[in-house]
Amino acid sequence: KKVVLAYSGGLDTSVIVKWLQETYNCEVVTFTADIGQGEEVEPARAKAQALGVKEIYIEDLREEFVRDYVYPMFRANTIYEGEYLLGTSIARPLIAKRLIEIANETGADAISHGATGKGNDQVRFEMGAYALKPGVKVIAPWREWDLTSREKLMAYCEQHDIPVDFSKSKKKSPYSMDANLLHISYEGGILEDPWAEAEEDMWRWSVSPEAAPDEPTYVELTYDKGDVVAIDGKAMKPHEVLEKLNKLGGDNGIGRLDIVENRYVGMKSRGCYETPGGTIMLRAHRAIESITLDREEAHLKDELMPKYAKVIYNGYWWSPERRMLQAAIDETQKNVCGVVRMKLYKGNATVVGRKSEQSLFDESIATFEDDAGAYNQKDAEGFIKLNALRLRIAAGKGRQQS
Ligand code: ARG
Ligand code: SIN
Repeated sequence: KKVVLAYSGGLDTSVIVKWLQETYNCEVVTFTADIGQGEEVEPARAKAQALGVKEIYIEDLREEFVRDYVYPMFRANTIYEGEYLLGTSIARPLIAKRLIEIANETGADAISHGATGKGNDQVRFEMGAYALKPGVKVIAPWREWDLTSREKLMAYCEQHDIPVDFSKSKKKSPYSMDANLLHISYEGGILEDPWAEAEEDMWRWSVSPEAAPDEPTYVELTYDKGDVVAIDGKAMKPHEVLEKLNKLGGDNGIGRLDIVENRYVGMKSRGCYETPGGTIMLRAHRAIESITLDREEAHLKDELMPKYAKVIYNGYWWSPERRMLQAAIDETQKNVCGVVRMKLYKGNATVVGRKSEQSLFDESIATFEDDAGAYNQKDAEGFIKLNALRLRIAAGKGRQQS
């Protein structure tokens, strides 16, 4: 009867509005969010109106997105398959949550989205929706309709008087892209050949390392409980931090990635990503943790991280296992406070200094000079001998092989 659609204002989701109205004879509510994709969201209002939509939601979610999703994820130094900083994955739970909240507000019984039946995004939207509203109906047009090509979509626009503005839309990018404050992604087009190098003009957020300035840029990040709260001493909100670091990183060619990843549905997919600010934050966070975390705490955290990354990648943000891991991760961050100094130079974000009131680094113990009795080197003898005990017993029984 009524369906809430995640609406970008672009061609595909505009076709979906019409298609839902026709196919399901239902009232469509549109929801468009600014999560820092760098495009105006306000134009979506007139477009939705032109399609006969009466309830139109347009929201600025940038602050909530970074504060409640990106920041908690970065506390775990999260990366998927050793590389991907999860820029798209982490935005979906918030969209799913708002779709459901709006459904509840407007009395809608269904939600809809423009993700295809081949990808991760459908899983993330729908997993979130079911977790937050168990009886919700989901309509995924890409899994149902036969508008399987650009041409068929265009023909549909003509037949249904979808305003020309949509169909002759600006120079269509040859890539499937997704952007928010954390990253911009590119898939499809020539990238479908994993051997083909991306063209330089594909990248939108960063200069190439070759074209980056010959002078390094230094930047200081202040951490409080694992989160960046200031840049160069100036206090900033989470989304302002990311905006600033994206600029600094992009200007210095930082954060480009070209990978083949395993999608949850089972296929491999090649993607290129730009995550300039996130790349700086990942390095810096590890540096502040290096002086403020206990060794075993840090190592256990690192063991949990790939599991946590997979939970997010596969769409289980709204799950008990994510909450459980989050509680453990957050507990480790209470002393992760201090300042990290970074050098940004031609594609590299290098840590050059770190300091903290909570630092566990003890110079008097670590020194190569005279430590004045702070550490007794003789203690190491028994430490090593006992740790070697089982190895010595096994060797005595002839088990040792070289
Ligand atoms: N492969 C990445 C992921 O699964 C990016 C997906 C991009 N999504 C999109 N609708 N273009 O997180
Ligand atoms: C899509 O299939 O809609 C985008 C790619 C993905 O979700 O993995």
